[in-house]
Amino acid sequence: MRLILLGPPGAGKGTQAARLVERHGIVQLSTGDMLRAAVRDKTPVGLKAQDIMARGELVPDLVVGEIVADRIEAADCARGFILDGFPRTVAQAEILKDLMARKGLTLDVVIELVVDESALLGRIEKRARESGAAVRADDTPEALKKRLEVYRAQTAPVSEYYRAAGLLQTVDGMLNVDEVTERIEAAIKASVA
Ligand code: AP5
Repeated sequence: MRLILLGPPGAGKGTQAARLVERHGIVQLSTGDMLRAAVRDKTPVGLKAQDIMARGELVPDLVVGEIVADRIEAADCARGFILDGFPRTVAQAEILKDLMARKGLTLDVVIELVVDESALLGRIEKRARESGAAVRADDTPEALKKRLEVYRAQTAPVSEYYRAAGLLQTVDGMLNVDEVTERIEAAIKASVA
């Protein structure tokens, strides 16, 4: 199974991806996690991405596209994967389409977590409090404001792109975590059956 989780910062993509990994035995490919690892390891990509991420802006499409292309080829992706945080622009969606076509792969479903923006600051602040010394550089009210602006301008059109392709399913991300998981499972069942 190959699926995409879409949704604004704090929508619950990472939380739900971790549950799907457990339930379906597929891997989570989070471009945010991959980029944070690159920043931590001070790789060339990390050095380029560090300030961009701290400001809440997007890393260039081609940089992220290359990271995903490398990762999708790994053996652990053979059973399927969950893309969390990618694609984030229509250009990235096109990159993914070409990449999958070259490998003869297809997407099963794209699930968008729909949330009320007013809840997101509270969720991000809670995560920042709970992460202690490991707090993310972009989990501040200023960076979140920018991340939401970027989401509206550049990522919201990705939902329309997949709606037009007949792949989009929306799930209410304001429900509690267990209920969101159940709705996602129902959306998967309806799409993969
Ligand atoms: P990324 O790491 O992808 O962050 P994000 O999209 O901003 O999403 P978050 O990780 O903040 O939230 P989430 O939806 O995963 O929510 P979570 O489950 O953690 O990207 C970070 C940066 O990297 C970007 O800004 C950009 O710079 C760069 N980047 C990454 N990908 C890129 C790309 N493709 N192109 C270019 N740049 C890229 O939940 C949040 C909190 O809410 C948690 O505390 C959780 O416990 C809680 N919670 C979750 N669900 C619920 C619920 N249902 N009810 C109540 N609380 C909940």
